[in-house]
Amino acid sequence: MKKTIRDINVSGKRVIVRCDFNVPLNEEGEITDDIRITSALPTINYLIEQNAAVILISHLGRPKGKANPKFSLRPVADRLSSLLKQEIIFNSVDEVVNEEVREISANLKPGQIMLLENVRFRKEETENDPNFSKELANLADVYVNDAFGTAHRAHSSTTGIAEFIPAVSGFLIEKEIEFLGNAVENPERPLLAIMGGAKVGDKIPVIENLLEKVDSLIIGGGMSYTFLKAQGYEVGLSILDEEKIELAKHLLDQAREKGVTLLLPVDILAAKEFSNDAETSVFDIKDFPNDWMGLDIGDKTREIFKNEIIKARTIIWNGPVGVFEMPKFSNGTRSIAEALAESDGVTIIGGGDSAAAVRQFGLSEKMTHISTGGGASLEFLEGKTLPGVSVLQDK
Ligand code: 3PG
Repeated sequence: MKKTIRDINVSGKRVIVRCDFNVPLNEEGEITDDIRITSALPTINYLIEQNAAVILISHLGRPKGKANPKFSLRPVADRLSSLLKQEIIFNSVDEVVNEEVREISANLKPGQIMLLENVRFRKEETENDPNFSKELANLADVYVNDAFGTAHRAHSSTTGIAEFIPAVSGFLIEKEIEFLGNAVENPERPLLAIMGGAKVGDKIPVIENLLEKVDSLIIGGGMSYTFLKAQGYEVGLSILDEEKIELAKHLLDQAREKGVTLLLPVDILAAKEFSNDAETSVFDIKDFPNDWMGLDIGDKTREIFKNEIIKARTIIWNGPVGVFEMPKFSNGTRSIAEALAESDGVTIIGGGDSAAAVRQFGLSEKMTHISTGGGASLEFLEGKTLPGVSVLQDK
């Protein structure tokens, strides 16, 4: 168990908080989804209530170590200011930390909040350069990591800084670990995992780890074609990772040996081309034609998956089962989201696309927990130690 801000005295201290404000922006540079900002508010509010002076740090996008106004945190400063109804001191400084920033932070009063510019404007950030870690640490008395979405990265602002000042967790990291951890280690059974998404390579280590824990596993989406091929089916022009077919076979064998129920699509909604305007047809997997591509699950599969979801008491979902961004191919993913919303079991949504899908269907409120971490939640489910968590003080 890691210490949190509840376990230390922050009153009158300058507290530097690493958040994950890596939010999606549209062409106009406007925030299109602020869940990562609202998720950081409990920690920020608590620190303010405790009379701390707060310095917030984050990355946004991948500016590759150079200052770039496209990746400025200014829109985040504005959104934070309207959410918290207070001024956010924000100096857009290319070096992130300079003399002026040092002076402002030294004079920050309890209750005041300052946001630094995108830490990835400095190339030392992703290199985890101790000099940059120290520059950040020197601004404050205490370090709080609340950036769950970036906890799988060992960077200056997520791990290096903890070498120099006391480091504890914020409420978001605490909550994420509690929900994701309990779902895997201490679930109410049956435990079902639903894995989807296009890239089978990313998900194989997660499936390997989950096969040790789950009672049943549903595989859908782009990655399912590699598994269907491993079972001997033809998948036409559907996305396929030839190199992973053997590994998929091995996982299918492992599931059988461990007595895990593994469900794959039995029918597929397919198209002749990757377009929402394309002609579509549903095929049984055993009759899949060689000049069509699978883009969603079919009706029979939806029913089978739904029945499995109804039986489960804990469900972990990571990755859509079709190209849900295109309305014609969104029904499979929608039916999974709806079945989860109806479930009275514990429903945990890994970040990234499945979280976006749940939001798109307006079902966020019906889920037990939606993770703010895409890559981070995957690595957690893989059983890996997240460096941004391991550096924090133990209780
Ligand atoms: C994410 O969006 O997954 C996190 O903010 C981490 O971003 P990164 O993949 O650029 O490190």
